[in-house]
Amino acid sequence: MTTILITGATDGIGKETAKALVAAGHTAILHGRNAEKLAAAAQECGCAPTVQADLSILSEAPKLAEAALELGRIDVVINNAGVFNTRQTRTADGLDSRFAVNTIAPYAITERLLTHLGPSGRVINLSSAAQAPVSLAAMRGEGTLSDGAAYAQSKLALTMWTTALAAERGAEGPMMVSVNPGSLLGTKMVRDAFGTSGKDMSIGVDILVRAALSDEFANAGGRYFDNDIGRFGPPHPDATNREKCRAVLRAVREIAQAPARA
Ligand SMILES: NC(=O)c1ccc[n+]([C@@H]2O[C@H](COP(=O)([O-])OP(=O)(O)OC[C@H]3O[C@@H](n4cnc5c(N)ncnc54)[C@H](OP(=O)(O)O)[C@@H]3O)[C@@H](O)[C@H]2O)c1
Repeated sequence: MTTILITGATDGIGKETAKALVAAGHTAILHGRNAEKLAAAAQECGCAPTVQADLSILSEAPKLAEAALELGRIDVVINNAGVFNTRQTRTADGLDSRFAVNTIAPYAITERLLTHLGPSGRVINLSSAAQAPVSLAAMRGEGTLSDGAAYAQSKLALTMWTTALAAERGAEGPMMVSVNPGSLLGTKMVRDAFGTSGKDMSIGVDILVRAALSDEFANAGGRYFDNDIGRFGPPHPDATNREKCRAVLRAVREIAQAPARA
């Protein structure tokens, strides 16, 4: 039996993945930001354990990791929580909320859990087909981006730090992989952003379950799985550039550590 921490498990792909994992006999630790939605999702998953955190607030991501560790063992982390269009594009920390939730919070959670997970652990980061060259200034909170640009940059930044961190940790670290779960799957995010009902969510659920548990992902560290084509594929060229990936990882680290310095 495997224990999997899933962020953003109150809706969409995250919630359905939690349900599938629990139905298969595993333990899912559900994360959410909204207490009522979290309790309802936990109920749907047979009273699964929960942790609450608003991942647009930098200081909450490491606290989420601490709270999850207090529940016991964690084998796999699925950094699934994500945001595309939102009324609140700027966070209290002065960041674009897409970078805060989609890029920085997953790093802070992963970083806190790295030692605990060890070489047998896995980190699955939810990337996207939407990937655009990352402005480090924009990631640090300078200027204003459109919803689409902020989302695409935040997802490439996530993919890039995943590659760089996997290379940095090597055999000592958990398997860390980026996964595009499939485009336009029928979730709240897709309905709100594109006004379409979207494709069957199970396309995304199936690949996340495989990434979390199956042997085919055992040696996938640093790679990008593109579920639009059903196989590991090339991400945006910037994510294959080692120096650029390292630069993104350095910047992400600085931003994630800022509250600790304050
Ligand atoms: N759907 C697709 O076609 C698609 C394609 C590529 C990648 N993805 C990625 O897949 C992941 C799941 O997306 P989805 O489509 O399932 O979207 P969704 O239905 O909107 O679910 C997003 C989840 O993230 C949570 N979340 C958002 N902002 C948060 C915050 N500030 N703090 C904590 N939790 C927060 C949401 O919480 P609430 O329930 O409180 O809103 C929800 O649980 C995302 O990373 C997304 O970028 C999706």
